[in-house]
Order: sequence, then C-alpha cells, then structure tokens
Amino acid sequence: MIIPGSPEMKSQLEVVFDLEISAAMFKETAQQYSCVDRVIPEAEWMKRAPYVHAINKLKKEKDAVILAHNYMTPDIYHGVADIVGDSLQLAIEATRVKESVIIQGGVHFMAETSKILSPEKTVIIPDSRAGCSLAESITAKDIAGMREKYPGAPVVSYVNTTAEVKAASDICCTSSNAVDVINAMDSELVIMTPDGHLAQNVAKQTSKKIVYWEGACEVHIEFKADELREYRKYEPDAVIIAHPECPTDVVDESDFSGSTSGMIDFVRKNKPEKVLLITECSMGSNIADEVPEVNFLGPCNLCPHMQRITLEKILWSLHTGNEEVVVREELAAKARLAVQRMIDLK
Ligand code: 13P
Ligand code: SF4
Repeated sequence: MIIPGSPEMKSQLEVVFDLEISAAMFKETAQQYSCVDRVIPEAEWMKRAPYVHAINKLKKEKDAVILAHNYMTPDIYHGVADIVGDSLQLAIEATRVKESVIIQGGVHFMAETSKILSPEKTVIIPDSRAGCSLAESITAKDIAGMREKYPGAPVVSYVNTTAEVKAASDICCTSSNAVDVINAMDSELVIMTPDGHLAQNVAKQTSKKIVYWEGACEVHIEFKADELREYRKYEPDAVIIAHPECPTDVVDESDFSGSTSGMIDFVRKNKPEKVLLITECSMGSNIADEVPEVNFLGPCNLCPHMQRITLEKILWSLHTGNEEVVVREELAAKARLAVQRMIDLK
C-alpha cells in the first residue's frame, strides 16, 4: 500500500498525469492564481499549477466535489475547492451536494461527519492520519463517566469528536452555534465536551451551568494573553480576532471572537487596517487577496493535522479512491441524530 505523500505516490502520479512545470499550465490556472498572488510567489505556483489543473479535470470525471475547511492552504482553498467554510457550513453542505463522491479537505472528524450525514455517498480523506487533538482527547466511555457524575444533564459535544463520541452525545455543536445549542437545552446543567476552553468561553455567554471535559486544541492553546498584551503595546491600532478554542484570557484580550467563518466575515465587513488573527494562520493567507487593504500581522501557528492535506494527496485520493471513510451504519445512525439535532436548531 502506497503511503499518501510518499515518494512512491509522487512517482506514480507523474506516470499518469502531466505534472511538468509549464507556462501553458500557468496560463490555464491564471484565474485561480489571481486569488492567491499576494501569498504564493509565481515560481511556486508554477509547480502547483499542474496539480490544480489535473485535480479540477479529474474531479469532474469522477463526479466528485471538494469540501474544504477554512484552514486549508490557499492553493487548495482557491485552487481546487468547490465549497469552503467552517465546520458547521461544511456539515450542512455535505447534506446538499449532488455529486456522488466527497473529497474532504480537512481533518478526519470532518470527513466522518460528512459520511454520517451522507451515508449513500463515497467520502474520501486524502490522508487519514489528519487527526485532531480534541477528537483524540475523549472516548464514548468518558462520556458515560460524565453522565454518571452528572445524572440527567444533557451532553453537548463539539463536532471535533469521533463518530463514537457523537453517538454517545445528545447533540453536537460547533464554534459558531455553541451558545445557541447550550441555551436550547432543557436543563440548567449541561455537560460540554471535549473542549474545555470553548466550554468556558461559552459559559460566559449563557446563564446555564456548564460542566466540561478538559480537552484542548493543540494549536489554540499555544496563544497566550500576555503575548497579545505585548502585541497591543507594539501595534496599538491592530484589531485582535480570536477563535473560541483559545483560552478564556486570550478571548478576553481580543476585540472579536467567532468561528473560522465568523472571523473571515468580520475581516470582510470591517476591513481593519491591521489584524492579528489568533487562529491557524492559513486563514489570513486565504483572504489576503480579497482584502488587500488589510495587513495580517500574524502570528503564525499551523495545525499539523490540517497541513497533512496537500494538492498531491488530493490528486492521489481522486485517482485511487483512497482513503474511503467508513462508519458502521448502526453507529452512524446514532451519531447522525446528534449532528442532525444541531443542524435542525439553525
Ligand atoms: P470552526 O468550526 O470554527 O471552523 O473550527 C473548527 C476547528 O477545528 C478550529 O480549530
Ligand atoms: Fe483540531 Fe485544533 Fe487542528 Fe482544529 S486546529 S483541527 S481543533 S487540532
């Protein structure tokens, strides 16, 4: 079995597809390049253009659609994605797409969510090792333990969880709807898993009592409130926008907090002259061309799991159909209830 990203994968792709650098290929992908020319140098795009071209051609032949999370790199986000969005938007879109194959540009729990919602479709993740520290922090057994500790309290689980954990939960939430989901619970006490930081940030915006699992996102936990205060001294006019997976003191230090799409919409609408995006740094690159008047000051923390998804692996996955995401129907049915309840609240 050829490992995605290995030299064998690359040489096999070169046998099947025309991946030579050429001016013609650059011209062919000029429209896509115009969306990323502030962040990807021309010589670099020359190398990626043949992949962009091959993927866009092959996805039509295979009746495939590419769903890409906002953290995908700009070559994927603008070059080959059909639909981009935050976790909630991608979950909803997975139920609407007409194509028979979904290629998930994102991490494993996102592909699993698409499969849970569209069991009749073939869902493929270009690298199944693309995990998530939150999804890995909790099991269905842990959920049972929380239920025992807080009898009767409903369990709200972030979509950043495995199908088993979703199936053991009452309802899911994402960063964009967490407060609404918590408020919709018919109980004053709510169990929230697995992100302890998201739970504490939500707790500040609701009268419900939230008990939570102490999981954390390995990317957002790296941001420190002290550092933001220092940035502010250095760049007093900068607008700070933080994802709610950040620790509460980081969110408190920011001017706005929202889901990945909420953050993008904030920048689109307000066009601040200087912005600190306190999240995965591909986000700034993805909108840099759209808002040339905005200066993204960084900082840059990359999610190693999201970064596993590359153009090369997307082409390989379209070509080979690997790796297909499989969720046992009995499990998927239970998990679907939790995800669908969330979608229906919208
Ligand atoms: P969003 O739902 O805001 O896109 O977040 C998903 C995620 O994994 C952020 O780290
Ligand atoms: Fe998971 Fe954090 Fe990566 Fe999002 S950024 S996929 S929460 S590890």
